Amino acid sequence: MLIKQAPDIRSSEITDKKLYVNRREFMRSATVAAAAAATGAGVLAGTSASLEAAAPAPHGRKLENVQKSPLSLTDEKPNSWDQITTYNNFYEFGTDKESPSLYAKALKTEPWKVVIEGECAKPAAYQLEDLLKGVTLEERIYRLRCVEAWSMVIPWVGFPLSEVLKRAEPTGKAKFVQFDTAFDPASMIGVRQPVLRWPYTEGLRMDEAMHPLAILAVGLYGEEMPKQDGAPIRLIVPWKYGFKSIKSIVKIRFTERQPLNTWQEMQAGEYGFYSNVNPTVDHPRWTQASERRIGEFFRRKTLMFNGYADQVASLYTGMDLKKNY
Ligand code: MTE
Repeated sequence: MLIKQAPDIRSSEITDKKLYVNRREFMRSATVAAAAAATGAGVLAGTSASLEAAAPAPHGRKLENVQKSPLSLTDEKPNSWDQITTYNNFYEFGTDKESPSLYAKALKTEPWKVVIEGECAKPAAYQLEDLLKGVTLEERIYRLRCVEAWSMVIPWVGFPLSEVLKRAEPTGKAKFVQFDTAFDPASMIGVRQPVLRWPYTEGLRMDEAMHPLAILAVGLYGEEMPKQDGAPIRLIVPWKYGFKSIKSIVKIRFTERQPLNTWQEMQAGEYGFYSNVNPTVDHPRWTQASERRIGEFFRRKTLMFNGYADQVASLYTGMDLKKNY
């Protein structure tokens, strides 16, 4: 990845506490609404009692009614909250690992709109709380393997991406899904420089996007998503390098043609469209055979498809994964 200096930031660019608290209120009612819909209870009838019950969490607001998932890892220890929220890649807020935790506070995540468009019968512009209506939040403990050869284990809270995609009724022409991050020079100090082509864009093939392991995440460690980790809603595709897991999504577009993701556009020889974790295909500038788990001393071996081969290898039957990196 490219390493450039983060520009200076003025203290006036950091969001005040009020905005943050409003967002928590919203997130809390969204999850309550989702839970009520899932259980068949009336949303309004369930809201106030559940709001009373929503407990504060150590760092933000606790997400209610989060179900355990059989798709979570059970044998690897999650990284700590501090590791997950202070060692980040979010170039919109600077290119070094600490900048997102310092500067992403400026991002205004309420209200938040997600547009769904392109090759589908039901395009729509959703307020986030409407997008979340009817979904059941799950804890998904996944490995995250960055293309830079570091990794973590993160207990995300989210729901299958397929639920949102199905709702839009994609047409027969929808072969791919493109995702865009917000582009807001007022709050995102990183986008004021042409470090990448903005907005940050990613894409998946339709069958990848519909896979049960692909989720939209709205939190971690049972709390609402910290801004530096991609609040209020981001993609998680655990068998692919971390840069596919695009943060702070504002647009989802069904396309007939393969989208050009930002990193491929920047350096096609180094970053491809598929970017499946693959220890047998090195990055031109470093090995991908091993990785540094944040918090560990010794490097560990990188696993094919980041350890999710049993679930996802069949998506790529017959494909040359050295060419389609
Ligand atoms: N999404 C956006 N919009 N901008 C980014 O710079 N970085 C990616 C991905 N999503 C990035 C992004 C990379 S390289 C990684 S490894 C993961 O986010 C890191 O997620 P984390 O900071 O929550 O660990």
